[in-house]
Amino acid sequence: MDKYEKVIELAKRRGFLWNSFELYGGAAGFYDYGPLGSTLKRRIEQIWRDLYVIHEGFMEIETPTIGIEDVFVASGHVGGFSDPLCECKKCGEAFRADHLVDNIVEVADALSNTELDTIIKDNDIKCPECGGDLGDAYEFNLMFQTAIGPGGGRPGYMRPETAQGMFVNFQRLLKFYRDKLPFGVTQIGKSYRNEISPRQGVIRLREFTQAEAEIFIDPRDKTHPNIERFADTPLNLYSQEGQERGTVEQITIGDALKQGIIAHEFLAYHIALTNHFLQRVGISPEHLRFRQHKKDEMAHYAIDCWDAEIETDRFGWIEVVGIADRTDFDLNAHAKTSKTELSVYIEYDEPKMVTSFVVKPNMGKLGPIFKGKAKVIADALKAMTQEELEHDEIKVVMDGEEFVVPSDLVEFAEETVKVSGENIVPHVIEPSFGIDRILYCTMEHAFNEEMVKAQEGKDEENGNEPEEESRVVFKLKSEVAPVQVAVLPLITKSELITPAKDIVALIRNRGLLVSYDDSGTIGRRYRRNDEIGTPYSITIDYESLDDKSVTIRDRDSMSQVRAPIKDIENVIYSLVYEGKKFRTAGTLVQ
Ligand code: ATP
Ligand code: GLY
Repeated sequence: MDKYEKVIELAKRRGFLWNSFELYGGAAGFYDYGPLGSTLKRRIEQIWRDLYVIHEGFMEIETPTIGIEDVFVASGHVGGFSDPLCECKKCGEAFRADHLVDNIVEVADALSNTELDTIIKDNDIKCPECGGDLGDAYEFNLMFQTAIGPGGGRPGYMRPETAQGMFVNFQRLLKFYRDKLPFGVTQIGKSYRNEISPRQGVIRLREFTQAEAEIFIDPRDKTHPNIERFADTPLNLYSQEGQERGTVEQITIGDALKQGIIAHEFLAYHIALTNHFLQRVGISPEHLRFRQHKKDEMAHYAIDCWDAEIETDRFGWIEVVGIADRTDFDLNAHAKTSKTELSVYIEYDEPKMVTSFVVKPNMGKLGPIFKGKAKVIADALKAMTQEELEHDEIKVVMDGEEFVVPSDLVEFAEETVKVSGENIVPHVIEPSFGIDRILYCTMEHAFNEEMVKAQEGKDEENGNEPEEESRVVFKLKSEVAPVQVAVLPLITKSELITPAKDIVALIRNRGLLVSYDDSGTIGRRYRRNDEIGTPYSITIDYESLDDKSVTIRDRDSMSQVRAPIKDIENVIYSLVYEGKKFRTAGTLVQ
């Protein structure tokens, strides 16, 4: 078994992840989260909320997961959200053409379908399932289409990203934030993509959870007020040039900005915050890098984009977060499609005197002559230059039709006026997190198999040399662990069960995730908790009844200390959340 198989086997057995619809044979691209998986996912989402909603102040909203067609026409998803599909001529199995060649070329998703066809033919690539010949690649739109309402209804799409729900609420959000830039908004929720061949478990799902922030900024000022917080933070950057050289560079955020590797401070701040989040949930920094999109790989809306990539045992480096400067693409697109101005009025510090060329068509005279066309002709006149207007008869050509406007129907002149501000379409910085991929990676990075003393605790008591056995342990960060502390009476006797349950209640009231377990030997119970990543276990024994203290065991070092029952809930809270260190020196947790 490779590591992926081991992690998934454990995840299924212990209630983290299950194949959806297993009873009916399952369906590729769908996973259920069991009790421990759901809790782990919520813990990761809570940390994300702590950083983005609470600390950054980007309030969370919730919008429908089904969108109407206009939204996705404007966003470009109806026209262009597709992957290259190629089918086996023999067995009919479908594959992503770029995935078939991605160990031949470095950035396969930047290739055109013709280029993909050529590489497939030149390298004699056959169907991975049956060895048959492959057909030509063609574009397959990844959105799930549906109908809103009965009788065919109105076309709708399951959203392929949570982002659009935030863009279409721009005007409301701007008001909420009192018409001031910058402001940010977040959304955590399901997104849907009809992936062509999702054969990578939770890495490639057809329904998955995204946590996205859209930060609306003034395009003239992409500095970040808190960039100093991360100036000395080292990151593994795999820049466009680095990819050409084949080298990942460890460099601080400050230096990356000075050298122009990252386009601007706002993007750099959010790359660093992503790095901070991923390490906080347990991703090891040596398996984490930030890869800049190549120019021809960039999404249709972005001018600079970096992916946080995590190294996994089976799939190599996988993208888990995309951090993009989406510019004003989305707001302009929605403004055009909805015919609504989506901009913000920014007042100058000092009013400016601005000279401009002003054209004033006389509507009272244009109307009777040009009737229904008068308004568009007037608009066309307003867009003309002085040279074009300085004629006795002004020619306006629209859709191949020529209109002649007598010069006395139009006045024009240079005018100087006092202007106190201007309308600006904000740019958007977007960190887009895939929670399912992050969750899998935290599990894989936390997964350990080690040789340890058999029957922990028991052999030493008997004075025997302990035997060795292997243990599987999920070294999850305490903050994300689905069970933060297990309470274990040493034996199943009421004298120990009652105080153990009292301790469970004490710890639960402190808001911690606690489990109670009294079945099997204590060694077995430790191993069960190691497997699900419980960082601390509390054992109640007969001594506890006399000295009012318990044993706390640390999952990773397996060392144990005695600590008084009084205040135990606060001690565990500090260990889990406040970075208190577990020390074995002396008898108490310090
Ligand atoms: P990929 O190239 O792997 O298909 P992407 O570039 O399409 O990913 P984005 O569109 O940038 O991904 O989406 C943002 C994040 O959403 C990704 O970094 C990833 O974590 C997550 N994500 C995207 N597609 C899926 C999927 N099919 N299953 C699980 N997570 C996904
Ligand atoms: N919002 C970025 C993406 O999902 O593609």
